[in-house]
Amino acid sequence: MTKPIEGFSKLTKEEKLDWITTNYTENSEDAKKILKRYWNPDKTLQQLHDEFIENTLTNYYLPFGIAPNFLINDTLYAIPMAIEESSVVAAASKAAKFWLTRGGFKTRVLGTQKIGQVHFIFQGNPQKLSAFFEEIKPKLYSEAVPITKNMEKRGGGITEIELRNKTKALENYYQLHCTFETLDAMGANFINSCLEQFANTLKTGAQNFASFTKEEKNIEVVMAILSNYVPNCLVRAEVSCPVNQLNVGGQLSSADFAQKMVRAVEIAKVEPHRAVTHNKGIMNGIDAVILATGNDFRAVEAGVHAYAAKDGRYSSLTHAEVKDNTFRFWIDVPLALGTVGGLTSLHPLVKLALEILGKPSAEELMQIVAVAGLAQNFAALRSLVTTGIQEGHMKMHLLNILNQLGATEAEKTRLTEYFKKNAATHSAVVAAFEQLRKS
Ligand code: MEV
Repeated sequence: MTKPIEGFSKLTKEEKLDWITTNYTENSEDAKKILKRYWNPDKTLQQLHDEFIENTLTNYYLPFGIAPNFLINDTLYAIPMAIEESSVVAAASKAAKFWLTRGGFKTRVLGTQKIGQVHFIFQGNPQKLSAFFEEIKPKLYSEAVPITKNMEKRGGGITEIELRNKTKALENYYQLHCTFETLDAMGANFINSCLEQFANTLKTGAQNFASFTKEEKNIEVVMAILSNYVPNCLVRAEVSCPVNQLNVGGQLSSADFAQKMVRAVEIAKVEPHRAVTHNKGIMNGIDAVILATGNDFRAVEAGVHAYAAKDGRYSSLTHAEVKDNTFRFWIDVPLALGTVGGLTSLHPLVKLALEILGKPSAEELMQIVAVAGLAQNFAALRSLVTTGIQEGHMKMHLLNILNQLGATEAEKTRLTEYFKKNAATHSAVVAAFEQLRKS
């Protein structure tokens, strides 16, 4: 068995490669070749990536693609997406094109409030704690000024600090529930720095608060951290058109298609098993843009799913209705995003993605990302209620299967042509490939 290693992070990159491939792979030389194949020959660029995290061995590629023709509030966007799933960009592009001739997407930001909390234990009289909080509140703001002054100059900062008594949920548990406006920054560092300062002010202030007993003076701060649940950092994206313009080809009438779409959303609203997959499809679009623009997809994922369960049951993020002969389809989604700070000015591809999007503000990016999610859901539901998902999915997956089989470029061209008219199941692709090789 491999022994634990001390000081791995201090080894050189070559030494790290040696250690990992010798101890954990079947063929060290082959493994090193794979890892080195992904090194970038541009040494400066490689070093930049090496320094994003600790113990970098190599780079991990994801395709970076573009879904064009997104008309959002009358402006045309080409949306960059970083994703490995073969059908996502194609589906987004198809939905964009569909709505391009039907008025496009309309969006608006419903709120930009970010949240952070100082969680603490106070053993004593809650009224005295409230009095202490009222006294200390101005100091919570003033002692954070070195952190907040630049943000305030730009119009952001701390918007509220509230004392919350949570003792019904957990003995002696209280919190400072704080809200922030972080403008174009996602704001994690800003918020966490403010919260850690609040925690200090709170602890020191309690020590000096005359009417506290000795026990009450000892406020125990458990942690100070932002919340990724941001139900008031919310954006809406929607599409609508007269039902009779909802023609999707095939046998299905526009009215039947509209009704099936509404039904599909209704099912996702009431059935959590379906809602999770329905929302996963939405996240296909959202995550891809978030990754391409260097934002934190884990934060967004956590917050979005919590929002999907806000009414006590996990449910659909999108909504659909037919009213007065108009089909309307929309999403409300919490998105705490940044277009400054973090990777945004560091990662060359992220910078380029933001340039392609017209250097959006955080609010503009929220709207673009919400559109990508809505478009993805429209495309998925459209396939699901008409042809079924596999037809489009397998067509896109075809190249992956052919690459796995080791098909040449000429074989790929022949078989792609063939599967334009034939169902591309895995076994059908293998059979057609073998047949082609034989002939
Ligand atoms: C696949 O990645 C996403 C879908 O399953 C979404 C959905 O079912 O709505 C197609």
